[in-house]
Amino acid sequence: MSSLDNSGTFKLGTHTIKRLGYGAMQLAGPGVFGPPKDPVAARAVLREAIAHGVDHIDTSDFYGPHVTNQIIREALHPYPDDLVIVTKIGARRGDDGAWLAADSPGELTQAVHDNLRNLGLDVLDVVNLRIHGLGLAEGSIEAPLTVLAELQQRGLVRHIGLSNVTPMQIAEGRRIADIVCVQNHYNVIHRDDDALIDDLARDGIAYVPFFPLGGFTPLQSSTLFRVATRSNATPMQVALAWLLQRAPNILLIPGTSSVAHLRENLAAAELTLPTNALSELDGMARTA
Ligand SMILES: NC(=O)c1ccc[n+]([C@@H]2O[C@H](COP(=O)([O-])OP(=O)(O)OC[C@H]3O[C@@H](n4cnc5c(N)ncnc54)[C@H](OP(=O)(O)O)[C@@H]3O)[C@@H](O)[C@H]2O)c1
Repeated sequence: MSSLDNSGTFKLGTHTIKRLGYGAMQLAGPGVFGPPKDPVAARAVLREAIAHGVDHIDTSDFYGPHVTNQIIREALHPYPDDLVIVTKIGARRGDDGAWLAADSPGELTQAVHDNLRNLGLDVLDVVNLRIHGLGLAEGSIEAPLTVLAELQQRGLVRHIGLSNVTPMQIAEGRRIADIVCVQNHYNVIHRDDDALIDDLARDGIAYVPFFPLGGFTPLQSSTLFRVATRSNATPMQVALAWLLQRAPNILLIPGTSSVAHLRENLAAAELTLPTNALSELDGMARTA
């Protein structure tokens, strides 16, 4: 039994996975563009994650681009039977590293094939349709989601998720396809999706926060530090433990390029915060 089992499991489509996984975006070069400085170290992070019992890795072929998926394949293929790799489509990178929309039927189909080839898979476990933009913006997602649903019907994709979406877009999406997860920006400070998380929990849909540790500029707060000191833990472990206790449908994919940080983050599964610490952390919330 791995210590990750302490935080329990959740059903992602037909897969039952541990609630604490790993996000691979930090394995690409600076700005998620180009190769990492140390590819050996990047592969070591992935192998360490598997050795600790991680069975959920989040990625995309637009990280690098292609780089992160290729590193995952080099490090882990042939994959453990229980490993679920979740990828996302809907964006591409410009020659200068810019993040651009790529949601035409041709681009979405190409992205699924790129993910299959670079990951070395015949079928993708879960594909998130990422709606492009820096923040959330209303608008119909019918056209791109219909394309993804057709790729699912062709057997190239097992399950579909949505990313960077509003509740209205999720409702529209659920009329078009079976949605197994939603991946949006959320952490102990950034709490815009509080009500959405509870709604999805009631419907058995996983919520996978991106930037669980604050993203490119990790969270820094005296409250996190204070609770961490009292709990004999680190501030990052407290931020992750808070998310695990926030709702049963939250699945974590903290990102790191460091084996030491990976071990620290996975150990958050062993931390249970007392009620008074949870209330203190709730006070950090900033909603739009
Ligand atoms: N759907 C979307 O639009 C979207 C957007 C962004 C991300 N994502 C996904 O979400 C995953 C997680 O997001 P993320 O990696 O951007 O952000 P994150 O997990 O919130 O934080 C990653 C940052 O925290 C640092 N870090 C990690 N563990 C640490 C520790 N124990 N102590 C100190 N610093 C630590 C990392 O640096 P080190 O490398 O030095 O550890 C990195 O700078 C990504 O891997 C990606 O798969 C999805």
